[in-house]
Order: sequence, then C-alpha cells, then structure tokens
Amino acid sequence: MAPGNFGWAPRRDRTRLLRGWTLGRGWSIRDAQGAERQADTSDLLDLGAAYRGTDGRQRIKMSHRRPFVVGIGGTTEVGSSTEHALRLALAAAETSGAETRMFDGAELSALPHYRKGAQGGQALVDAVRRADGVILASPGYHGSISGLVKNAIDYLEETAKDERVYLDGVPVGLIATAYGWQAGGNTVATLRSIAHALRAWPTPLGACINVSGRILHDGVCDDAYAALQLALVGRQVVQFVRMRLGAEAAIANGVSAVGPV
Ligand SMILES: Cc1cc2nc3c(=O)[nH]c(=O)nc-3n(C[C@H](O)[C@H](O)[C@H](O)COP(=O)(O)O)c2cc1C
Repeated sequence: MAPGNFGWAPRRDRTRLLRGWTLGRGWSIRDAQGAERQADTSDLLDLGAAYRGTDGRQRIKMSHRRPFVVGIGGTTEVGSSTEHALRLALAAAETSGAETRMFDGAELSALPHYRKGAQGGQALVDAVRRADGVILASPGYHGSISGLVKNAIDYLEETAKDERVYLDGVPVGLIATAYGWQAGGNTVATLRSIAHALRAWPTPLGACINVSGRILHDGVCDDAYAALQLALVGRQVVQFVRMRLGAEAAIANGVSAVGPV
C-alpha cells in the first residue's frame, strides 16, 4: 500500500490521536483478544481510519466493540424457511464478529397489532434502539411482505422521537423467501422501500430466495447460491457497521480525511 493513500490528522491533533491507537511496525492491527499482528489489505474493510504519525509511520485505529445486529423475521410456522434464512444470515454476521439477537416467528406472533405506545414490543424496540445493524426477513405473501413482519416493523414507530430516529444511518440487510421469483423480487423491493422510509441504509445485496424446492431446513441451505446470498447479507451489514463506526471515530478525533485522497 502506497503511503499517503489515506488521510491523516492535522498536526495539532496528532498527540491526542495517539491515545488508544494501535501502534506497530508499519500497518498493524489488534484483534478482539488484544493480540497485535501485521495488517493486510483485507483488513481495510474493517478499518475505521488510518493516519500517519509524526514519525512517518501509518497507524490504524480499530474499534474493539462487537457490532450488535438484530434479526427480525419468520412466519407463524415454527421452523419456517424464512426463519432458517434469517438464522443463516445472522450466523454469517456472527462469523464476521457481531453479537446478534433474533426475533423469530414465535416472538413476532406474540406481538399485538401495533398501536401508538403499545407495550408488547418493548424487547423488540429496545433491541433495535441498541442495534448497529438490522436484518429483516419476510416471506412473500400475495406478492408482498407478510402482515406479521410488517406489524413488527410498525413497532419501530416508537423510535420516531429518539435522538436516532427510526433506523437513521443503520445498515439493514433484506431477505425475501417465496415459492417463486415474482413475489420474492417484489418482497425484497418492498423491504427496501421500508428501509428507506426508516432512514436506513439497505445493504447492496438483498437476498431473494426461492424456497419452492424446500432448500432451507434444519439450519442448512441445500442451494449454494442461496446460501452465498444469505451469508453476504449478514457480512455486508457488519462490514458497513465497522466502516461507519470507524469513520465516526476518526472524525471525532479530528482526522481530516478517511479513505483514498
Ligand atoms: C398467505 C400466503 C400467501 C402466499 N403468497 C405467495 C405468493 O404470492 N407468491 C409466492 O411465490 N409464494 C407465496 N406464498 C408462499 C410463501 O412465500 C412461502 O410459504 C414462504 O416463502 C415461506 O416458506 P415456508 O412456508 O417454506 O416456510 C404464500 C404463502 C402464504 C401462506
């Protein structure tokens, strides 16, 4: 990596920046257990900020906090395809380092119809308030998302007056399951519209899974392409969280630019 490809702090901020930043020979990185190792280019996805110190070496700041990702999805059927799909995406988020909490079909079924100030969804609302990322998974019912999933999403209205309104700035992964492509595609598009309405950042990939062949069961996916889509959704949510947390930390620390300059 050519030196100078990343922005660095103005001179007056350099001493302050050194506190809590991982130092090492060249590019280094510290993992969650505190072990330091040489960074490679794949670590760049996780980088918050990079800058050059007064000695001319580049330094990288890493966030040690585990991203918290909330999954919302399922159907009234225990062990539905939608639930399996969501679990696989959340498993990929965990593999990428996230802590997760899933609200499955059973929990969504226990939610009363949303009305303003409703108490029943407190656990859901609290988890979403704490979430760095969210994954929504809905079956395609008559060409769109299910009432069960929409009712759960409606509970996010409780966050309308929060400092972080709705899902403002939060990456949201989207998963639709259906017995055909038409309903699946439309359901992903509807979920994406909802994410936009909630000020979220839908991840680049939305997973459209045709489950007519019963490819999802017992926590496994028999179709390699579908499995890849689900894993990518989980991974992209965590990647975005890391990039955002790092960029915010960099800006708070006075780094003048992050990314290629
Ligand atoms: C009320 C209802 C409406 C449905 N509508 C559609 C539809 O319009 N298009 C479609 O492809 N599948 C439709 N399905 C099938 C669901 O998409 C499918 O059940 C869902 O993906 C969950 O899979 P699972 O039942 O294997 O868990 C419908 C199912 C139900 C129960």
